[in-house]
Amino acid sequence: MAQQTKAAYYTEFGGIDKLQVGPLDLPELGAADVQVLVQAAGINPVDAIVREGKFAPVVPSAFPTVPGWDVCGIVEKCGPEATRLPVGTEVYGYVRQPVAQHGTFAERIVVPEQYLTKSPEKLSWVEAGGLPLVGLTAYQSVIKAGQLKAGETVLILGASGGVGSAAIQLAKDAGARVLAVASAENADYMTKLGADETIDYKAGPVADTVKKLAPEGVDLLFDAISGDTLAQSLATLKPNGRLISVLNDGKSLSLPASVRFQHVMAQPSVADLDHLRELADAGKLTVPIAATFALDDVKKAFEQIESHHTTGKVVIVPQRPEKK
Ligand SMILES: NC(=O)c1ccc[n+]([C@@H]2O[C@H](COP(=O)([O-])OP(=O)(O)OC[C@H]3O[C@@H](n4cnc5c(N)ncnc54)[C@H](OP(=O)(O)O)[C@@H]3O)[C@@H](O)[C@H]2O)c1
Repeated sequence: MAQQTKAAYYTEFGGIDKLQVGPLDLPELGAADVQVLVQAAGINPVDAIVREGKFAPVVPSAFPTVPGWDVCGIVEKCGPEATRLPVGTEVYGYVRQPVAQHGTFAERIVVPEQYLTKSPEKLSWVEAGGLPLVGLTAYQSVIKAGQLKAGETVLILGASGGVGSAAIQLAKDAGARVLAVASAENADYMTKLGADETIDYKAGPVADTVKKLAPEGVDLLFDAISGDTLAQSLATLKPNGRLISVLNDGKSLSLPASVRFQHVMAQPSVADLDHLRELADAGKLTVPIAATFALDDVKKAFEQIESHHTTGKVVIVPQRPEKK
């Protein structure tokens, strides 16, 4: 008989009411798989989009679906070809598989080893479980696609959320001047993470404030919010600036031809996770935690992330008590 695990799951697309918590069969351990005792699993806005069925054109789902792509935990079993991360290794990863079915909001998961790597030693399990998707998104956007360099100025929209919090720190580490946009309530929070200037998007057009802070314009605009805030901010770009968005495909933006635009969708990458671990272990990358929730409270975790006003990360903690 298949081993079972306690998991959050849903059997059809829909709202938060579709979520259930109970025992489910674990997938059989394949040759290249590992079984992980989950210590922490970050929740992201995309988990709600997948649950609603709106992400199906990009990543199809199979039911019952266990949501969640972020994980930190301990390897319990290894398939014969999974030799990189032996039993007992503390691992973390962004487990976005080709089909959304065997997610991370569970006490145990069986996943291909290829999505995982050693977790940062300096981070708690909760912090490490909240890092993969937001860390990869910020790194692949600001540093890899955005090519942010020392001495440049970056404007970050949505800077107090999971992605933005990582983006501020990576931009500071790159030696850039950071202008961070969120509500005034989060100004101190963003300053503590390294923002040189904070801008309240509720206080008037963002471009008006940026014009005073950086009259020559910004080199890189990193958009993690889109909508009106992005529309208002386009005028802040230098003529040959770069715009990286994790939400907007650029079609409706009518950008000058000289602006380099790229839409980024975060990709699983062990090499990039290794880089993020090095930054975290060097004290250059922290993961501020907004709230943790037990598996039984998974609906509350979704309610918080679906508010779109989370400061830092929301993380599901299936094992109690937390040991690290
Ligand atoms: N393409 C990809 O691969 C990818 C990857 C990760 C995330 N995303 C997307 O990126 C977005 C951000 O993700 P996240 O995890 O950082 O979300 P999050 O943790 O929910 O953070 C959202 C943040 O945006 C701020 N905010 C809300 N309205 C704003 C506005 N009009 N202007 C500026 N800031 C505003 C909020 O701050 P206040 O509370 O102060 O308003 C909040 O801190 C989501 O839509 C997500 O789906 C895409």
